[in-house]
Amino acid sequence: MALLEVNNIHKSFGGNNVLKGVSLKVEKGDVISVLGPSGSGKTTLLRCINFLEKADGGELVFEDKKYDLSRMSRASIAEIRMHTGFVFQNYNLFANKTAIQNVTLGLTSARRVAKDKAAKKAMGVLKKVGMGDYADYYPSQLSGGQQQRVAIARALATDPKIIYFDEPTSALDPQLTAEVLEVMRNLAREGMTMIVVTHEISFAREVSTKVMFMADGVVVEEGPAAEFFENPQMERTKEFLRLTGK
Ligand SMILES: Nc1ncnc2c1ncn2[C@@H]1O[C@H](COP(=O)(O)OP(=O)(O)OP(=O)(O)O)[C@@H](O)[C@H]1O
Ligand SMILES: [Mg+2]
Repeated sequence: MALLEVNNIHKSFGGNNVLKGVSLKVEKGDVISVLGPSGSGKTTLLRCINFLEKADGGELVFEDKKYDLSRMSRASIAEIRMHTGFVFQNYNLFANKTAIQNVTLGLTSARRVAKDKAAKKAMGVLKKVGMGDYADYYPSQLSGGQQQRVAIARALATDPKIIYFDEPTSALDPQLTAEVLEVMRNLAREGMTMIVVTHEISFAREVSTKVMFMADGVVVEEGPAAEFFENPQMERTKEFLRLTGK
């Protein structure tokens, strides 16, 4: 049984058809890299499957339960979100809360975990991403890479079954990028299921189980990472890989 399946998802903004029937299947432990040129709909896809954006049509199957993406009830959204994490390009931390407060918030508010228990859990995940010594720092006192690691800790704190990453390193310089990718690499090794929109081709090549290449709102090509990079089939994929220099 797949952990998550998305079938034929559609989304347009005004007259702009951004997702034109995208489907994907995620098994437990999969690390799926989503590649594609700017504007191809990668962010929109992630946002729709975590209900930050409302899809116009399509089906989502989460742990064998089917949902119509165009008609999600608040209760269904809350139910699925209990098991998902989202890591944004720009971290999205609360500026007026410390690292540990940012991490505990999702536990104490949405999940009603007791404060001391939440603090303990938060400290554990901060340590896991190498941020244990920065628990009481505010986002403005942290580098971009450190903020992103706090954001990853926040996603981990709720023990998600899957984490969606939207270009988690694209705002970072190479040194900080390496720190964040190292954390993600470790999560992958531990078997965390992840969908990662990324321009880091070497990360995708090394860490992913599967790669999905999107252009103009459709999946152009997908497959096991090794096959995808060694032997791309579609001209569009070959051109993309040439342009990114891989
Ligand atoms: N909230 C919105 N309102 C209107 N149009 C939007 C909105 N969000 C995205 N779009 C449009 O949808 C298209 C796809 O955008 P999206 O952000 O999903 O692309 P992307 O593949 O993530 O690109 P990038 O690599 O630059 O992040 C673009 O044409 C964009 O302008
Ligand atoms: Mg994007």
